[in-house]
Amino acid sequence: LKIFCGNANRDLAGEICEYLSVPLGESKVLRFQDGEISIAINESVRGADIFVVQPTCAPTNDNIMELLIMIDALKRASARRITAVMPYYGYARQERKARARDPITAKLMANVITTAGADRVVTMDLHAPAIQGFFDIPVDHLPGVPILAEYFREKELADLVVVSPDLGGVTRARSLAERIGASIAIIDKRRPEPNVSEIMHVIGELEGKNAIMIDDIIDTAGTIAQGARALRERGAKEVYACCTHAVLSGRAIERLADSVINEVVVTNTIPLSEDKRIDKLKVLSVAP
Ligand code: R5P
Repeated sequence: LKIFCGNANRDLAGEICEYLSVPLGESKVLRFQDGEISIAINESVRGADIFVVQPTCAPTNDNIMELLIMIDALKRASARRITAVMPYYGYARQERKARARDPITAKLMANVITTAGADRVVTMDLHAPAIQGFFDIPVDHLPGVPILAEYFREKELADLVVVSPDLGGVTRARSLAERIGASIAIIDKRRPEPNVSEIMHVIGELEGKNAIMIDDIIDTAGTIAQGARALRERGAKEVYACCTHAVLSGRAIERLADSVINEVVVTNTIPLSEDKRIDKLKVLSVAP
């Protein structure tokens, strides 16, 4: 078994290697002056079972190309099996034609990853679980809920309600609620345009409860910040937010800092730069 990584999340790859007591494979991402990427694999991989840890987070296009080129290099170097470990799967939110002539980029990604030579994919909390079926190779789809649940169990909060910030996240919210012995509530959210969300109703009992909102992704943090306000207006005491993928683009960090949320718990599927590390943000590792 050998583990390699590109530049997307070297810290996570290092933590996985430490967990498994396996050294990180010797490789380098090279960049030519015109921006093209090349990969140097600096040890033999002949006959080996290879795992490439490379979430396709921002810079998404560079990280995708690093992954594809690394898989190609490993294949041509006679690796026996190559598993693409993509804790965050970029372009997952383009998984269907929402309007006429839309691309389905999540499927395009599945095609190129398979064509490059991946034999298997390991990923986490796909925005749309049906993306598993875009691949004709095995996909291990792991949930972040067990890691988040363990953290909240240890906090021993009373009177808990787990809140899904939209109708699509109810199954995830129920899974967390069952693990920590909480009731559930649902926010009825509408998206009039990309990156803008509007809250219509909140279904469930919030009065006097400690609320935990759970989402797959926090991107601009609009959904979660607005949701927290709505929960407070309906009588919630403390409001926590958690997610697997901390995309945190645009004004997300400012929004979270200014929000009524007491703590935001995320995982490290996407690396968090120093300027995004605010006090109320807690990062849990998915390495195990
Ligand atoms: C949407 O359906 C997703 O589950 C998240 O709710 C969404 O990506 C969060 O986006 P933002 O943080 O920009 O509101």
